[in-house]
Amino acid sequence: MKSTLIQELESSLTAETPAISPKFFYDEVGSRLFEVITLLNEYYPTRTEKWIMDVHQSEIANIIGDCDVLIDLGAGNCAKASRLFKTIHPKQYRALDISKEYLEFAVSDLQKQFPQIQMSAHAVDLSLPMSFPDIQDSKKIFFYPGSSIGNFDPEKADQFFMNIAHECHGNGGLLIGVDLVKDLKTLELAYNDPLGVTAAFNLNTLLNVNSIMGSDFNLADWEHYAFFNISDSRIEMHLRALRDTTVRLPLQESQDHVINFKAGDVIHTENSYKYTQEHFVKKLKRAGFSEVYCWTDPKDYFLVCFAKA
Ligand SMILES: C[S@@+](CC[C@H](N)C(=O)[O-])C[C@H]1O[C@@H](n2cnc3c(N)ncnc32)[C@H](O)[C@@H]1O
Repeated sequence: MKSTLIQELESSLTAETPAISPKFFYDEVGSRLFEVITLLNEYYPTRTEKWIMDVHQSEIANIIGDCDVLIDLGAGNCAKASRLFKTIHPKQYRALDISKEYLEFAVSDLQKQFPQIQMSAHAVDLSLPMSFPDIQDSKKIFFYPGSSIGNFDPEKADQFFMNIAHECHGNGGLLIGVDLVKDLKTLELAYNDPLGVTAAFNLNTLLNVNSIMGSDFNLADWEHYAFFNISDSRIEMHLRALRDTTVRLPLQESQDHVINFKAGDVIHTENSYKYTQEHFVKKLKRAGFSEVYCWTDPKDYFLVCFAKA
């Protein structure tokens, strides 16, 4: 996977508008920083999604029913999936995430608590098509919480849903959480916490990139910058150069590439699309799911859906 990641970084950083995919947030430090973000008052998505899933736990479980395999996409610390073990009784739990060491630690810890469930950890990149030939005939529930779907451009999200609908083979479905459009202040504060944890999370990407490709980004030259782009309905995160700065990228198949950034230049690090319930349900139906069940919170901040195969 490493050389593919390096290739991707080489082309995105040397593009006319330099960018780093949000998947590069998540080395071990990034995964731990994300866990701290979820504890912040300003970051409503995690606690709101948890609230929805707790309050509607029985109804969600009744609709989904017991399953053979629970596939956790972008599992992180696996905490949300583990809450489903007691209600939908999976025989197998597959956790997928790009953050390998962090994931393996979480799964081995969970296996001790639930020895009756067969568990495995898979270091994969979810932006590539997935297939599960060995469990084709099993009833699979795909679980994609945390509004990670917001990181996909809308067309890519449609392809992702089609891939999952196809992989269900007419059985099971997708349980997914997504962040909803809301007032600007709440949205922007969630990505600009006063403690600076989100800023550290964003800046840590440069350390991860340095360690993956041997570049020499200096953290002191960059600052966190996040805002809601109303016309595209997405939070954008960027790293903005504080001063003129030069970065050397060692390329795999040619000489080092030097990028000269001017003060104020940005590197785009994340899009987090926000949806309306109506739009999101339409997307799921269009991808081939037969029925979509929805749950939300009293403020309509967040949406949990079960899309039945
Ligand atoms: C927003 S966090 C959500 C974590 C957890 N599921 C939750 O809801 O609290 C996104 C997770 O997806 C993983 N991730 C991000 N991009 C990924 C990719 N392209 N492929 C695989 N995992 C990815 C990250 O490592 C991280 O654990």
